[in-house]
Amino acid sequence: MADQSSKDNFERLLNRMKPTVEQALKRYAWPRSDAPKRLVEAMNYSLKAGGKRLRPMLVLAACEAVGGELEQAQPVAAAFEMIHTYSLIHDDLPAMDDDDLRRGQPTCHKAFDEGTAILAGDAMCTYAFQAILENVADPAKAVAAGRELALAAGLEGMVGGQMADLEGEGKEPSTEELRYIHEHKTGALITGAVVCGGIIGGASDDELSRLRSYGRSIGLAFQVIDDILDETATAEQLGKSPGKDSATRKMTYPVLYGLDGAKKYAEELVSKACGELEGMRDAAALRTIADYFVDRTH
Ligand code: IPE
Ligand code: IPE
Ligand code: MG
Ligand code: MG
Ligand code: MG
Repeated sequence: MADQSSKDNFERLLNRMKPTVEQALKRYAWPRSDAPKRLVEAMNYSLKAGGKRLRPMLVLAACEAVGGELEQAQPVAAAFEMIHTYSLIHDDLPAMDDDDLRRGQPTCHKAFDEGTAILAGDAMCTYAFQAILENVADPAKAVAAGRELALAAGLEGMVGGQMADLEGEGKEPSTEELRYIHEHKTGALITGAVVCGGIIGGASDDELSRLRSYGRSIGLAFQVIDDILDETATAEQLGKSPGKDSATRKMTYPVLYGLDGAKKYAEELVSKACGELEGMRDAAALRTIADYFVDRTH
């Protein structure tokens, strides 16, 4: 059962942060360009479809936790949502998870075509770095955040995890392999969002290392819950098709630990994550997001 107070706290946080997140996306993520119209339309189609916007919220919440200005974190918040959205467009392609539904509407390659979907993802990936390099005022922070995003998104992060996820299809999961997949395909971008929020907010080295550790725990927990919801939730709740993991014999935490065991594991990770926030200036928002990560129903 989802904890009502954690859902209420999240609802309040969402109401508070939504205008800043939407402004960030409007300013830095909606492409205004004379590039081929179909490509720009496909990018906007996937970005504007909605989604929970959790990565931009994490950037802002981490910036706030160390006493930074939310306005300055906006380009980075937009960049993380772009990289995340690109990862979803490519994840849904026939060559990967072959999904028809995303964010409550047909997937990008269904609404457009595969070539356009691949290019929309590619364009979003590079646009994310452009957003940071052109708009983060402090050059040292732009370099540090750009490097962190590259690590989180690429070979050592999301892309590496997606490869391991494909290679793991049909295999019996081992704890180590599954942990690698989840920490990379999903955890890396979540950790990166938290760390980059800290960088923009001017975090100390100690704060940054605690933010990183918080991010790693909630990032893994987030994918454990995604695996659970794939088995237990409906398409209406999720805005994407459930039941895909078992159909493609993906390695998941419910396969390894069972549904209850997986939920318990996610709860342990979140409680460990919150321990890292002790003594931080204003970490209430990071706590609220961590609790929501395990209580969410979509
Ligand atoms: C879905 O992420 C893909 C995973 C990494 C599990 P979200 O559940 O955050 O998707 P949106 O952004 O709300 O659509
Ligand atoms: C996706 O994991 C992680 C990404 C990098 C997109 P999933 O394949 O489980 O995500 P969903 O369930 O399709 O959103
Ligand atoms: Mg996938
Ligand atoms: Mg998928
Ligand atoms: Mg999934």
